Amino acid sequence: MSYFITYKNTAIHFKDIGKGNAIVLLHGFLENHRMWEDLIPLLQDKYRIVSIDLLGHGKTECMGYIHTMELMAETVMAVIKHLKLRRVTLVGHSMGGYVSLALADVHPDYVKGLVLMNSTARADTPEKQLNRSRAIALVKQNHTAFIRMSITNLFRPKNRSLFRNKVNTTKKEALKTPLQGIVAALEGMKIRPDREVLLHFSPYKKMMVLGKKDPILDYSSLIAQTQNTEVEVVELPDGHMSHIEDFKLFSSNLIHFIENL
Ligand code: MLT
Repeated sequence: MSYFITYKNTAIHFKDIGKGNAIVLLHGFLENHRMWEDLIPLLQDKYRIVSIDLLGHGKTECMGYIHTMELMAETVMAVIKHLKLRRVTLVGHSMGGYVSLALADVHPDYVKGLVLMNSTARADTPEKQLNRSRAIALVKQNHTAFIRMSITNLFRPKNRSLFRNKVNTTKKEALKTPLQGIVAALEGMKIRPDREVLLHFSPYKKMMVLGKKDPILDYSSLIAQTQNTEVEVVELPDGHMSHIEDFKLFSSNLIHFIENL
């Protein structure tokens, strides 16, 4: 079922289905709750699945001109409190992972498990920050071209034709993201702090799912983050879109993690 709550005068949209321990699914940049549509049927018989549209994405409105990861985490927390959930498992794809970390940083007592999927605990490098500023200029010039190019670049090159239909659906959904939402998320990601310490010192179980050929994230940096931690690492062979490019491996590893919490 689809619901809205109002938080700080802003409509926040989410879906809530199933009963049991709560799994909170957080999409990435230019995505929305629909990215989880293939995964949810595998979980909804045993768990309560809450998939939330982050600020300026999907059916959730914008709140100003910078959506920090902390502000997005606040809206997620508002949904968690509204539903009276305790100790949830957060599954965040990329930017959704940054938001999960921001939430877990402030509310570790609400977290039972944390899954970072094609995401990183590190802050942007100066080079990445520069690229974000370029992206902001680009999207202001040509919204459609920016989105089409950005989505294509998330997939491993050889998968772009193999998963043509999924790539096109992802683009179609992404094209619904308003300019303000895109710019605000880019500004927010640009200034997010490093949260690697949470991978070392936190009371909940953690898993990192990474694509060895992720065009966006550096594989060796991700592996380095997990050294000397108890983070479970799942290495998948493809790109940034593990829920599409490696759906079976991704979903079976996720279910295994959740079942063993
Ligand atoms: C995402 O998929 O959410 C973004 O690529 C993350 C990022 O740009 O850091």
